[in-house]
Amino acid sequence: MTRVAIVTGVGRVEGIGFEVCRQLAAEGFTVLLSARRQSIADSLAAQLAGQGNDVRGAALDVTNVESVAELVARVESDFGHVDVLINNAAGVTEFGQVPSTANLDAARSAMDVTLFGTWRTTQLLLPLLRRSPSPRVVNVSSGAGSHDDVAFGLHSGNGMGPGYGIAKAALNALTDALAFELRDTPVIVNAVCPGFTATFPGGESMGARPVRDGAASVMWAVRIPDDGPRGGFYRDGQPLPW
Ligand SMILES: NC(=O)c1ccc[n+]([C@@H]2O[C@H](COP(=O)([O-])OP(=O)(O)OC[C@H]3O[C@@H](n4cnc5c(N)ncnc54)[C@H](OP(=O)(O)O)[C@@H]3O)[C@@H](O)[C@H]2O)c1
Repeated sequence: MTRVAIVTGVGRVEGIGFEVCRQLAAEGFTVLLSARRQSIADSLAAQLAGQGNDVRGAALDVTNVESVAELVARVESDFGHVDVLINNAAGVTEFGQVPSTANLDAARSAMDVTLFGTWRTTQLLLPLLRRSPSPRVVNVSSGAGSHDDVAFGLHSGNGMGPGYGIAKAALNALTDALAFELRDTPVIVNAVCPGFTATFPGGESMGARPVRDGAASVMWAVRIPDDGPRGGFYRDGQPLPW
């Protein structure tokens, strides 16, 4: 049976999602590389396809229920099932804000993508995931949503802005609740942090690690066995504090 993986929010070559698509294809998955615009998805998929790799572009805006439903209909018709869903899409907020004065419109937008977009996409794809013998849902979270990550977490005062981190904390809570609901099913749900990853110019000189390493932290949750951990928050296969 064709093993099918869907990755959300793959808008650029430099991003973690693109490298995750490359690693999934290298493991033999048929990959639906999705981006908000079909033309971008097609162009990025074309860069990974060929030489035995089956990577196809798909339009997906996770905040738009019609867009998600269209993808589900296409996958149902083309494959009839899904094995892996990587919820990589994220809403970002302005760097350096603090909770007391943060722009709440931006925070709401981040929540709409990171939490509700992931929630919606997972809900609508769950019937197709249930048809897989070993379904995996991987929510790409961040140490920014951790209460205890001293470098990037909610108490670090670091960088990405509270809207981003609070949305990731909510994503972690969704991971926990959904994994609990699905605890007696084959559907394994986990959250992962890719770590501080060089997806922007000059990143490595600021201490960020190569994109292939960030993507490998995501792939760990794809490869876990059927009796492997579920409902957790991990970086490089090691538990992170919520
Ligand atoms: N880089 C890091 O150091 C780091 C650290 C921890 C966690 N992460 C997480 O890793 C993941 C990938 O991050 P990245 O650094 O590779 O950044 P990225 O390229 O900006 O990835 C986020 C993607 O989400 C997409 N997106 C936004 N709204 C969307 C929507 N409504 N529907 C579908 N897609 C949407 C963006 O698309 P557009 O291109 O169209 O805007 C973008 O491609 C994210 O979840 C991020 O929070 C990254």
